[in-house]
Amino acid sequence: MCGIVGYTGPQSASVPLIAGLKRLEYRGYDSAGIALGTAGKLFVEKKAGKLSNLESALDSSLPSVHSGIGHTRWATHGGPTDQNAHPHLDNEGKLAVIHNGIIENYTELRIALEAKGHKFSSQTDTESVAHLLSDLRKEHQGDLTKAMRDAVKVLRGSFTLLAIHADKPEEIVGVRRNSPLVVGVGTGENFMASDVSAFIEYTKQAIELGQDEIVTMDPTSVVITDLDGKTIKPKTYEISWDATAAEKGGFSHFMLKEIFEQPKAVADTLIGRLSDNNQILLDELHMSKQEIQSLKKITVIACGTAYHAGLVAKYAIEKWAKIPVEVEIASEFRYRDPIIDSTTLVIAISQSGETMDTLMAVRHAKSAGARVLAICNTNSSTIPRESDAVLYTHAGPEIAVASTKALLTQIIAVYLIGLHLAQANGSLSDQQVHEIYNELLELPGKIEQILETVEPLRELTRKFAKNDTVLFLGRNIGYPVALEGALKLKELAYIHAEGFAGGELKHGPIALIDQGTPVIAILPAGKEHALDEKMLSNIQEVKARGARVIVIAEEGVVVEGAEHVITIPVVRPIFQPILATVPLQVFAYEMAVARGNDVDQPRNLAKSVTVE
Ligand code: AGP
Repeated sequence: MCGIVGYTGPQSASVPLIAGLKRLEYRGYDSAGIALGTAGKLFVEKKAGKLSNLESALDSSLPSVHSGIGHTRWATHGGPTDQNAHPHLDNEGKLAVIHNGIIENYTELRIALEAKGHKFSSQTDTESVAHLLSDLRKEHQGDLTKAMRDAVKVLRGSFTLLAIHADKPEEIVGVRRNSPLVVGVGTGENFMASDVSAFIEYTKQAIELGQDEIVTMDPTSVVITDLDGKTIKPKTYEISWDATAAEKGGFSHFMLKEIFEQPKAVADTLIGRLSDNNQILLDELHMSKQEIQSLKKITVIACGTAYHAGLVAKYAIEKWAKIPVEVEIASEFRYRDPIIDSTTLVIAISQSGETMDTLMAVRHAKSAGARVLAICNTNSSTIPRESDAVLYTHAGPEIAVASTKALLTQIIAVYLIGLHLAQANGSLSDQQVHEIYNELLELPGKIEQILETVEPLRELTRKFAKNDTVLFLGRNIGYPVALEGALKLKELAYIHAEGFAGGELKHGPIALIDQGTPVIAILPAGKEHALDEKMLSNIQEVKARGARVIVIAEEGVVVEGAEHVITIPVVRPIFQPILATVPLQVFAYEMAVARGNDVDQPRNLAKSVTVE
């Protein structure tokens, strides 16, 4: 996710632009930049690091210009450097572009544009758009709107784009596809931004945009057209939020907003990962087929929620790639003299990329000669930098301490790795990979389905708000889900919560069951699943001892004795964690709210634990 803002009107543009970027900094904060337009010239300043670095660099003697675009970045392609910061320019330095999203076909665009003589100065996907627009604008005799229209017809991926040209600086042209863009309509001034929080202090009149709709705005007009140039009647609405609510997209907490961002986070992490000839595309692994075939084992190292993604990796990689996988709590890993060498692939999973326990484990693995692959959500953070390769997830900044969307994208990443390894060693055919990948592409829609039906669960949760213990049961691939549900509840509701493998219940934990003890059971996916009967027996065992049972089960499964059944869409069993985890996130969230806890910053916790 990145923060995008555009302004045109009587104010000195740097003022509303910087104010807007401050409101949008939660969307990305590893670099920032602005381009200000005045007759025949653009003033561009962009800096790596926090927005304050840009503010310090902005020369107070900037001319008072009245239009411009601004961007705060969450790096996807190319690290957080001054060069990779947006805006990106054409070679004349008169056209500037800012972008949120992923241009899937940027490499082929760049090759074609370089062949036409364009000189690139960054590693970003966005810069290709700046050079493309420059050519197209010339073809349309300086019409930036027509240029944008033709550009969108060749771009693939998800994007919000804003562009400005020095020859017509009061005009800003924007477009969106699978990425947010909203227009703010002021009096004699107009705005565009990733969300309304950027301009809500100036105007509450907004226009929502549809897919592939192009906006051309100047201080006194906003014109919306489709890809055929047909004018579209603006759908104006009054913003009812205040600025703080707007930063959370109207949600009461960042955590809830991030739970609801999961469909898009999963979809973005899957973009462009299967080639036309059914090959999983993970070039960033930098591993040849021979190197993959020489692997003797895989060791996954991670902490907390990321560790649970690692447990899912074991099921997926062993099932598809037939390579032995061990999953280690990072803080334990290096103190037990692990058996690792050059035939081991170590996968380090970390949302922040700064977790010291995981970083120290990475260093230990490297010193033992293992190849280290990081799965990370934070571009150019320490763990990816110290690893041999990195697979970035595209969850966007995760603000809430309790990890949600990062987990789901980590699980998607391990699925992609499992498929890639399986393809390299021939344990899955290209057709099988194609089928499995297509089922992955259906997951965002299935997550949406769950999110559309969580209200009854939120209401039910409040009935358990006074309980001081909750147990979670899962079997097979549902076991990591049980552990994650328990961890979420611990860190958010501050109550005792335990996740167990269902088969372990009778070996001790069943003694915990008392009258009214809430037990959440994750029923294995697949109606005829052999474990169904065993898990159903577990449910009867705990029910018989007074437990109140909530069950997560696939649509159509009947469960005797459950107080409440949360149904999730039918899905390939190995994909169940992606769906079954979502109700547990909502359960923990609602318990925290009901107990009056600080949901986004729970007590004693930090978003990134940078001490051992
Ligand atoms: C997750 O909800 C927790 N906040 C915590 O367990 C977290 O997953 C763990 O600290 C690892 O963080 P990382 O992914 O940034 O390495």
